Amino acid sequence: MSFRLLLLAALAVAAPACTGEPVPTRTEEQALALAETAAGRLKGVLFTEMSRAIQAGEPADAVEVCGGAAQKLSREVEQSAGFPVRRTALKFRNPKNAPDDFERRWMETVAQSRAGDPADPFWEVQEGKNGQELRYLDPLYVHTICLNCHGGAEVSDGVESYLQEHYPEDRARGFSAGDFRGVVTVRVPFQAPE
Ligand code: HEC
Repeated sequence: MSFRLLLLAALAVAAPACTGEPVPTRTEEQALALAETAAGRLKGVLFTEMSRAIQAGEPADAVEVCGGAAQKLSREVEQSAGFPVRRTALKFRNPKNAPDDFERRWMETVAQSRAGDPADPFWEVQEGKNGQELRYLDPLYVHTICLNCHGGAEVSDGVESYLQEHYPEDRARGFSAGDFRGVVTVRVPFQAPE
């Protein structure tokens, strides 16, 4: 066997270890509890960070903190959880946050719900490649503070120009307080105990 073939064979053997982390053994209830905790953590971290930034200065400064920080904070929460935890929306600002079919379909069913009568979180167990995956969607609603960057006329000129520069295809504008805004979406892989 040539060196190249050997190398390819070695890579083929190594591949499963690279692509799939071993799927942890846990019950559906345990997976659900982990999803709820992780979603709560991401919401808490982002809300605290955003409120602090808005109180500290102008929304135009806060939008920079939130823009760069949101992706970084999501990654930190994901790393400590050990599974994906992110935000998505039908009207998304960052194309990296675009929903997949499962997320989009569910959000369409609750898009008209309001903060005063919010939709309950939704979850579903799906078959994954190496086991199962609990997919958890936790709805988010627009508070007054969000209008600084997701409203219409409330958005200041400074924020406006930041958004135009960094998110030219922004769809996350024109919201009112109480509107459905999107979800925190969590995917917990698991294998049921024997
Ligand atoms: C200071 C400005 C600012 C405020 C205030 C703000 N956001 Fe955002 N929001 C952003 C930016 C910038 C992004 C894009 C982040 C990224 O690049 O991932 C974003 C993204 C999001 C996303 C991810 C989906 C998407 O559109 O890309 C959700 C969901 C979201 N915001 C909800 C909220 C909610 C709910 C509030 C109020 C509790 C809020 N935001 C307040 C600036 C803000």
